[in-house]
Formats: sequence, structure tokens, C-alpha cells
Amino acid sequence: EKGGFPHFMLKEIFDQPDCISDCMRGRVNPDTCTVTLSAVTNHKDRLLRAGRFIIVACGTSWHAGLIGKQLLESFCRIPVEVEYASEFRYRNPVIHSDDVVMAISQSGETADTLAAIELAKSQGAFIYGICNVVGSSIARATDTGSYIHVGPEIGVASTKAFTGQVTVLTLLALALGCEKGTLPEAEYHRVVKELSAIPEKMRTVLKQNPFIADFSKMFTYARNFIYLGRGYAFPVALEGALKLKEISYIHAEGYPAAEMKHGPIALIDAEMPVVIVATQSPLYEKVLSNIQEIKARKGRVVAVVTEGDTVIRNLADYSIELPATLECLDPLITAIPLQLLAYHIAVCRGMDVDQPRNLAKSVTVE
Ligand code: F6R
Repeated sequence: EKGGFPHFMLKEIFDQPDCISDCMRGRVNPDTCTVTLSAVTNHKDRLLRAGRFIIVACGTSWHAGLIGKQLLESFCRIPVEVEYASEFRYRNPVIHSDDVVMAISQSGETADTLAAIELAKSQGAFIYGICNVVGSSIARATDTGSYIHVGPEIGVASTKAFTGQVTVLTLLALALGCEKGTLPEAEYHRVVKELSAIPEKMRTVLKQNPFIADFSKMFTYARNFIYLGRGYAFPVALEGALKLKEISYIHAEGYPAAEMKHGPIALIDAEMPVVIVATQSPLYEKVLSNIQEIKARKGRVVAVVTEGDTVIRNLADYSIELPATLECLDPLITAIPLQLLAYHIAVCRGMDVDQPRNLAKSVTVE
């Protein structure tokens, strides 16, 4: 059932192009470059009059939420807060009746996320669910929602659910931004068109697997890692660091690249690998100077770049070249090499990647 792959995790990483196509099926019309999401069609008025979105989630799903915030704020001009479900539920949070509280959960069974939406519901908020498991507790507790439809995720470390969640959040931001008129029509069509091309670009990314497997060996005995990214790439850095921690048991931290000079730069020496997302974006030059700062301190750099980037190729120890896409869709592309890197380092260290110690697939305890 692993489809010829040694682990479920690797299979699920490689399934992502098909999963994202499944997630978009019936929702994205590639001919007209439009999006229809039934939750938006059925609850248009309620969603359009939302004063605020509050996203509640844990772990990887929380990272997807951080990307969702950027998408929803930029396409829909609605303020979005992203909360750890466990922190939200045990505070006395301000919840208004015109808020939309969105729960993101692969399993749909995470106890803290479920409790957070019960709390929000009791205070009159409208509840939107983004789940994978159909009929799960969270899916049943919501007023509406959109399934990610990526199929069962078996590996404990979440991979295809993350890109599925980001895809649904993109669809939601597109559909709402279009209805609201905050997303210019030409931009709307341009993003939808490029989103349709993502599965094919993911296939291109996956061709980097042998290269990543090969250089991962160099990091078998690393004790620490830093992951950096800015803007849409910051949550990707957090997610990359989480993947590495979970399955390889190497300590890793994700930071917004510009925060490096406010502390973490003190950690950089020849023993410190730094993974940095440096694809083409308006902030490229800034990220490039971060790489120069790390190299000046002899840090080892793994850079995730846009294909053809010879500047970083000459600077970084390893540079993983990916097809170009729109900045707002970049996480769907850049998350994949970081999943592969964590996977191969864990395999080199002889770890059980599908069943890492101390972790469970559904966290139903609080
Ligand atoms: C990371 C991971 C966990 C989950 C978290 C939330 O690889 O699997 O961090 O993302 O426990 O789980 P769900 O999405 O099922 O609520």
C-alpha cells in the first residue's frame, strides 16, 4: 500500500501533485480561470460581512493558517488572526458575533481545536472548518467548511495535508476576494491560472529528490538547524523546521529571515546549517544579503531558489532550484524540498520516519 515507496511519508510527499489536483477538482475551472467553493456560494453574505477571521489550529495546520492569513488579508482585506487552539481556548478571548472562526485540522479530531471552536460557537461566531477526514468531530461541529480531499494521511509527519490546506485557503481567499471586489479581476484570473499549473510544477520539484537525498547525508550528524524565510516563506520555514524536529530529532528553529540580526545570528558558525527560502520575490535582495551574512560567519547554507539563480548557486553550499511561480503560491512549491530534506536526513539517521517517537497522528488528549 506504500505504492513501492519505502515509507508512507515519501509516498505522501510524491502524491502531492495528484492530491492538489483532487483538491481543486470541481472547484477550479481552468478554462474560465474561476473558482467556485460551495461554502462561499452557500454562505456568501455571512462570510462577506465578517469583521474578522480568527484561525485556530495546532502544529502544521497552524503553519498553514499563517499562510492563509497572508492570502486572506491581501485578497480580501479582512483582518485575520492566527491562534494556537490551545492558547485561544484557555484565554478569555474577545469573540464578536460577526467573527468567522476557522478551524484547520487534518484529522478533525484535535481536542484543543475542537474545544476552541465550541468556545467560539458559544459566543455566536460563525464556524468554518478546513479538514481532511470526512465526518470527523471538527467537521461536524462547524457551520460550513471545505474539505481538502487529499486522501488518508498515514505518515505521522503531515505533508500532503499541509499543501492541501494551503490550496483550500488559496481557493477561499480567491473566491471571497472576487465576491468582495477587493481582488482585481485580472489578478484573480492570473492567480487561478497559475494555481492550475501548480501540480505540474510540483512534479518538476519532485525531480530534485535524488539531489536532496544525496546531499542530506552531509547533515546526518548535525545537532541544530536554522530555517529562514520572509513573507509567504516564513511559515514555510517554520514548517520545514517542524518536519526536521519531528522525524530526525534534530533541534531546528524557524525564524523570519530579518529577525536573524536580532539574536539568532549569534548561533552561526561552521557547525550551523541554515536552510533559507530565497526564491524570487520583492524581498529577494534582502534574503540574499542574509545569505551573505551567514556565509561570512561560515554557516552552511542550503538555499531554496528559483531555477537559474546563479548568484545564490555560487554562494550557497547546496542550492535547490525550483520552477518560478507567483509569490502567493510559492509555499506550495517551496514546502516540498523541505519535506524531502527532513525525510532524507531522518533516513540517514536510521529513524522510523512514519512512526516517530512520542508522536501520535491524532492528538485527542489535551
Ligand atoms: C506535524 C503534525 C502535527 C499536526 C497537529 C495538528 O507534522 O502532524 O503538528 O499538524 O497535531 O493536527 P490536525 O491537523 O489533525 O489537527
